[in-house]
Amino acid sequence: MSLEVVVLAAGQGTRMRSALPKVLHPLAGKPLAGHVIDTARSLQAHRIHLVIGHGAEAVKKQLAAEDIHFVLQEEQLGTGHAVDQALPALDPSSHLLILYGDVPLISQATLEKLLAEVKPQQMGLLTVDLPDPQGYGRILRDDQQEVAAIVEQKDASPEQLTITEVNTGILAVTVEQLQRWLPQLSNNNAQGEYYLTDIIDLAYREGTRIASVQAESAQEVEGVNNRLQLAGLERAYQRQQAEKLMLAGVTLADPARLDVRGQLNTARDIFIDVGCIFEGQVDLAEGVEIGPYCLLKNVRVGPGTRVAAHSILEDCDLAGDNQVGPFARLRPGTHLEAEAKVGNFVETKKSHIGAGAKVNHLSYIGDAWVGEKANIGAGTITCNYDGVNKHQTQIGAEAFIGSNSSLVAPVHVGAGATVGAGSTIARDVPEKALAVTRAKQLQKDNWPRPVKKSAE
Ligand code: UD1
Ligand code: CA
Repeated sequence: MSLEVVVLAAGQGTRMRSALPKVLHPLAGKPLAGHVIDTARSLQAHRIHLVIGHGAEAVKKQLAAEDIHFVLQEEQLGTGHAVDQALPALDPSSHLLILYGDVPLISQATLEKLLAEVKPQQMGLLTVDLPDPQGYGRILRDDQQEVAAIVEQKDASPEQLTITEVNTGILAVTVEQLQRWLPQLSNNNAQGEYYLTDIIDLAYREGTRIASVQAESAQEVEGVNNRLQLAGLERAYQRQQAEKLMLAGVTLADPARLDVRGQLNTARDIFIDVGCIFEGQVDLAEGVEIGPYCLLKNVRVGPGTRVAAHSILEDCDLAGDNQVGPFARLRPGTHLEAEAKVGNFVETKKSHIGAGAKVNHLSYIGDAWVGEKANIGAGTITCNYDGVNKHQTQIGAEAFIGSNSSLVAPVHVGAGATVGAGSTIARDVPEKALAVTRAKQLQKDNWPRPVKKSAE
């Protein structure tokens, strides 16, 4: 039987107090519903149906993908009604898993366990034991301890309210079962809603066994209703990432002060200091050290590289044994060859910095190609923009650029050439030549300084 997934995501999320639909609020940089969709994908779901309502246009725009089918639920009449909207699009011979757009941390392992537990002609329910079951639907079991029904908080008797096993909302059914049960739901209950949970009672009465599996942790079935809960799950997620990294051989100065918002691939003996953020895909090779408060987004960092405090790197590639920062900003298209150094308050963009080259202090290197072992003095600026177009600067191997020089692109400084400090270079400098554009120093011996005129 092929698997289809329905993700309920039509609710408003009033308690978020936000113009953004709840399921689009980011957790680890990805919309809540995006996490659920990715988990559904990991189960090899044949198709994913997203039931949307509030903020439908925004949700569609952000989550559209080839394997996602959007189902509009115009009015939110309950979880049973929501699933019913998707029913016509489901293959009658499929198995169906129901997930929630605002329950982002549900794991692939737990869902696989649930699906494996359900035998043909049964249905499956994911439950969890909560010390404080307040607000959740309670699981009612019969004398044989088989699941018999779910009673919502608002419909429960005082005795039922003491039950701590609750409904996570996540369940597995066949489309054929749903076709039979959904039309029988009524909204004759405390909330006037069509409860999906009522199908449990229908299943039980017709003799269908409800296989149940307990979630591993409460966090993975926790929903987000307000920003406090969102922050709680964000920390839980980040803690998981930190634990995975530490077990993989990364030393974290403090696992509680790390944020991974994407995919961080690591090797052995990496050290990451506090307050670092990793976005997109970041690859850190063996022996890399990342100092405190760095931001790395879509970066590959070669072995033995040290990125010092407060550096920001985006869309760049570091070959290895590099030194970067503190306070360096490597913008997209920066490529450092082995052992190249980019120091404090240096900004680079679309630039190739050759092996062993140094740009140690206070420089802007944009649209440039810097050869091996070139030395770029403090305060060097590539003037790459003429107000209309960007131009290239080329600096040959072992060239020496004196401090506070401006290189007006397009311009080429030859290999081994020297540029005197304070020069403005607008013409090409041949190999091994010296170029200085600095004005001659005027000098007067024993020069009398002006003195202040006495008041009249
Ligand atoms: C539901 C369950 C409850 C369970 C709890 C777990 C029902 C009747 N109750 O309660 O047993 O313990 O989840 O969190 O199912 N939604 C729609 N369309 C609707 C209504 C809801 O898409 O018409 C979506 C919501 O956006 C939300 C999810 O379904 O993501 C759950 O709906 P909600 O109203 O929050 O259900 P609960 O009262 O929490
Ligand atoms: Ca809820």
